Parts: sequence; C-alpha cells; structure tokens
Amino acid sequence: MQKGEDTFKKIIAHAKEYGFIFQSSEIYDGLSAVYDYGQNGSALKNNIKDYWWKSMVQYHENIVGIDAAIFMHPTVWKASGHVDAFNDPLIDNKDSKKRYRADVLIEDHMAKLDEKINKEVEKAFKRFGDSFDEKMFRETNPRVLANQEKIDAIRTRFVAALDNDDLKDVKALIEELEIACPVSGSKNWTEVRQFNLMFNTQMGSLSEDASLIYLRPETAQGIFVNYLNVQKTGRMKIPFGIAQIGKAFRNEIVARQFIFRMREFEQMEMQFFVRPGEEMQWYEYWKEDRIKWHQSLGIPKELFRFHDHDKLAHYANAAADIEFQFPFGFKELEGIHSRTDFDLGAHQKFSGKKLQYFDPETNESYVPFVVETSIGLDRMFLAILSHAYKEETLDDGSQRVVLNLPSMLAPVKAAILPLMKKDGLPEKARELMDNLKYDFMCRYEEKDAIGRRYRRQDAIGTPYCITIDHQTLEDNTVTIRERDTMQQERIHMDDVKRVVLERISYRKG
Ligand code: GAP
Repeated sequence: MQKGEDTFKKIIAHAKEYGFIFQSSEIYDGLSAVYDYGQNGSALKNNIKDYWWKSMVQYHENIVGIDAAIFMHPTVWKASGHVDAFNDPLIDNKDSKKRYRADVLIEDHMAKLDEKINKEVEKAFKRFGDSFDEKMFRETNPRVLANQEKIDAIRTRFVAALDNDDLKDVKALIEELEIACPVSGSKNWTEVRQFNLMFNTQMGSLSEDASLIYLRPETAQGIFVNYLNVQKTGRMKIPFGIAQIGKAFRNEIVARQFIFRMREFEQMEMQFFVRPGEEMQWYEYWKEDRIKWHQSLGIPKELFRFHDHDKLAHYANAAADIEFQFPFGFKELEGIHSRTDFDLGAHQKFSGKKLQYFDPETNESYVPFVVETSIGLDRMFLAILSHAYKEETLDDGSQRVVLNLPSMLAPVKAAILPLMKKDGLPEKARELMDNLKYDFMCRYEEKDAIGRRYRRQDAIGTPYCITIDHQTLEDNTVTIRERDTMQQERIHMDDVKRVVLERISYRKG
C-alpha cells in the first residue's frame, strides 16, 4: 500500500528526531541534496552494506570484493563515455527561473496520463466488483485505449529525439504537450541544453601543472580498470564477479525527495564478467537473483516491480530497473545492466593495454562481456526505512511509532534495561551488557519508566528489550520483549546471547 506524501514527511521528521539522518551542514542552513547519517543511521547503513557484501562476496565463491580510489586518471572518464555522454537535458522556465530535467517533465506528463488510466480501472472495479476482468477492460475501454495511445506516441517520439540528440524536438514536444512550469504555471521555456553531471576539481598544487580530475559518478569504473589485476592475482575463471561499495558524486539538476536523489551518495555495484554471447542468460540470472535478495529482507513482493529501460545508456544492450514503491510512488532502486564489452573494450583502446581473458575451455582470447548489478545504498536505506515506519494504536488506546526493521539490520539488536535504578538491578544489567556487547550491538538505558524506554527502542527499531527485575536477583532470569508483537518471555540470563544471536542471524532472513 502506498503510504503517501504525508507519511513521507513524517518519516523524514522521524529520521531526524531519532538520529538517523541530518541535513548536511545544518547549522549553516544546509547544503542542498547532501545528507549526513547520524548515530542510528550510520549503524543501519553499515548493516545494509554488510548484508549486501556478504550476499555477494561471502556467499558466492566466484565473486571477490575491492575498494578502489574515488579519484581516477581523467582518461578513464573519456574512455567510459562519461565526459561526452553523461548528460541530462535541462530546460529553464523563464518566469520562475527554475531549472528542470526535460526528460523528467515529459515523464511526469506520461505518469499523469497513466494515473488517468488507473482511475478508470479503479472506477470500473468499484462498479463491477469481483466479476471485473481488468485485462479485458484495459484492452477494450475507449478512454483507456486513447490515453495509452497518447503515452505510447509520446514515448516513441521522446526516445527517438534523445537517441538522435535532437534537443529541438524535445523542446517542441514539451510545447506541444502544453507542459507548464509547476512553480510559475507558465509555458515560457528556454531551449533544451545538455548538462554534464560530473563534478571536477584540480589535482596538483600549481595551477599550471594541475590536471582536471573528476569525482567518480559511478564506482563501476574502478572495477573495470582493475579487472586484469584481480583476474590474475585471484586466478579468477570466467564467469566471475568483482564487487565494490563506495561513494559516487553527481551534480544532479533536480535533487529532491530526501535521500532518494543526492549529489553525494553511495553505490553497491557488482560487475560479472562472462563469455561473449552468454550475457543475456546471465542478465536474466542476475535480475532473478537480485529480486530474491530484496525479498529475503521480508519486504512484500508487490512493493517491487521491474521496469525495462526505454532508452539504453551508451554502454548497454539490455537494462532493467528494480523499482520500489516509495511513499512517493514506484521509483528506481537498483539497475541491472548488460554492458557488453563496451567498458573493457574502451579501456583497452584508450590505455593501449590488453584487457583480455584466455579461456582454457575454448582456447580463445576475448574481451569479456559484463553484466552489472548496481544499487544505491541510500535508496536501499530509504526503501527499508519507509517500509519499516508504522504508526500503531495499541489495545489500551495509546499510540506508538515502531520501525519494523528486519532484525538483522536494526542499529541496536538488544536494549538492556534495569527495571529500576536501585536494589542492585543496574549492576546486574551492566553484567549482562558487558557479556553481550562483544557479540552484537546493545544499548544500556536506565532513565525513565520502562514503558517510555520500550517506546524509544521501538522508534529506532530495536528488536529485543531485555529487562532485569527483582526476580533476576533471585533466579538469574530476565524478560525478553519482542518489538513487533510486544510479547514477553522469561529466559535465563545465560541463554540471552544464544536466543538473540539465533533470531538476528542472516540465516533466518
Ligand atoms: N554503474 C551503473 C550506474 O551507475 P545508475 O542507474 O546511474 O547506474 C545505479 O545508478 C543506482 O545508483 C541507481 O539505481 C540508484 O539506486 C543509485 N543512484 C543513482 N543516482 C543517484 C543519486 N543521485 N542519489 C542516490 N542514489 C543514486
């Protein structure tokens, strides 16, 4: 179920209030589209990274991980095509002086037509009830068909215009569709221009010696330029993969929706090197594998969908996004791309170094083809956070906000809570804390009534609260409270470690 813009605002406020995400440089009024992760946010983010890394590198014998530098030789970006082709078409409204991505304006227009179709379908569903045949309705209803035809025509023309770099036609399309600026309401547009998204800086202390270098816009190139190093030193046999997690930077024109589109963000990418001709089968394999990974986190299937790219990037022969239903609608979370031999081939050409693989099975040398999986860590964070955020009314009529996070990803796994700040209970609780803290993240809290402490832990998604009470002093038992059901059971102190470890294990998912 889509949660909507109001809930999204509450999620953003909650993320700040509970130390997950802060605006960067907030005391200086912030820096647009740049965010800092707080004490709970950085823990959640590290746990997501760890889960992805283990799923890729530890659970696959033929995938290894690297950590390449952010700065790279400037020719890397010439070879990769980013200097010439990593552009967004932008357009300004002359009245509001606001800048937009031309493609986003057109896509939003198509989304509105799609919305009209969905409203027709909803209306018909209400009218016909269970006997409603949605497929037939979509294929025969004249209003649905007319809108679908409009969407298809716009898409065909828009893709052709972008493919041919025909920016005049992109502008003509915006005018013909009578798209107005959302701020000024006017249709007074500038020409469409291409805008390169890479940040650059100078390396070297003297300006005459300095060379222009870029902040990487994707981590993938660090993998490509190390392909041969890793293949040879790791004695890797095709098919094999190289994984990496790291920062990427893009000077996004339209940066919005909190951490969904940032100017500094993190990617988790894996390049899988395969025999030429086998890339489509691996492309399908990784599409399937990645959707299963998302579902292993307990997020319902219907919140994900595939979207095939209309316009392929300069390096791809097939590409699909895994979209997630964020509170503001279905949007790209991860990309799976068949990148052919474009990157290795280009680096071979520009560097003059052979980047080939000798295949002992076929006795041939070739430049491997690549299938890539690329997910934004911050977007994954947002997907998990927005799905986990729940407002509940309890049986006694009171309210609670709970983050229903997968336990294995929760920032704090167990809160250690002495019922009272006296009678030797804090000492006993400290004893347990000292025993558990080496195995998983714990937090000790003795301030406020126990109910308020439970609520604070619910709000950051702590799956287990361990309470030490007077009975503990007599028989060494404690209560363990489960976050989602709020059920409590009494177990022996010596069993707490085993019980929590079992329940937060990756094996349980
Ligand atoms: N190496 C391929 C590549 O970079 P991409 O589709 O441009 O492909 C991959 O980016 C993923 O990186 C996206 O699916 C998204 O999750 C994330 N991403 C891209 N731009 C982003 C931004 N400005 N802010 C946050 N995440 C972003």
